[in-house]
Amino acid sequence: MTEALSRPRITVPLVMANKGSGKRLSMITAYDATFARIVDESGVDMILVGDSVGSVVQGVANTIPVTLEEMEYHVKLVSRANPRALVIGDLPFGSYQVNTEQAVRSAIRLVKAGAAAVKLEGGVTMFDTIAAISRVDIPVMGHIGLTPQSYHRMGGHRVQGRIDGREAGGRERLLEDAHSVEQSGAFAVVIEGVPRDLAKEITNKVSIPTIGIGAGPDCDGQVLVLHDILGLTQNTLKFTRKYADIRTTSVEACKQFVDEVRNGSWPDDDHSFH
Ligand code: KIV
Repeated sequence: MTEALSRPRITVPLVMANKGSGKRLSMITAYDATFARIVDESGVDMILVGDSVGSVVQGVANTIPVTLEEMEYHVKLVSRANPRALVIGDLPFGSYQVNTEQAVRSAIRLVKAGAAAVKLEGGVTMFDTIAAISRVDIPVMGHIGLTPQSYHRMGGHRVQGRIDGREAGGRERLLEDAHSVEQSGAFAVVIEGVPRDLAKEITNKVSIPTIGIGAGPDCDGQVLVLHDILGLTQNTLKFTRKYADIRTTSVEACKQFVDEVRNGSWPDDDHSFH
């Protein structure tokens, strides 16, 4: 067994204890058991079963069509890998915005499917929702800044906090959002797509770990989408990084198989039964 797979199981209190410790937290998305095992073997702290499953697995343009049933299914697949990392299930659009009762019911479904915590998008408007879910002992990770479920309000996936103001997406509003998420009882908060100096200011002001994506290096941790890390997507967004080119390797492997079938060299005698 590798060192990573024998490490202590990561829990919510362990994640919270990292704040101010100088140790940076890492989080990677996964959507099925095979990739969850690979990600866990890297020693990552948290696995996010993100609603990014919509764009990277289901082939839709944004996260809005993803359903709770689909998220439940992917959380089940990931938790079957029994990772040492903390598994966080993303609440999809429409599963928590109606009222707090709906939000608690949805969060319970993801926990029953195997998540140890849930994530939801929004700041001041989600105060009661985060508090209600936390009250039934389901840890909540907040998500502020470029919140993909606000696609239509933002007019696409747009960097937030570049303009001053208390309107949604304004700089002062984002500071209020961060404060509200912290006060409502969330154990951590994702900051996505905001200027570096704003993410730093938020990180310095809140007592819970901040996990950045497109928010510069000063957050308490960082998250990336697995398919971007592996180079499986053709994403050229400024804030992602391709650490491998699995797409090219995969196309080449499949092409070699197709060529060998066509020229009759696969299967050879060694791979045939006698
Ligand atoms: O759904 C997702 O993968 C996310 C991360 C990018 C933070 O929300």
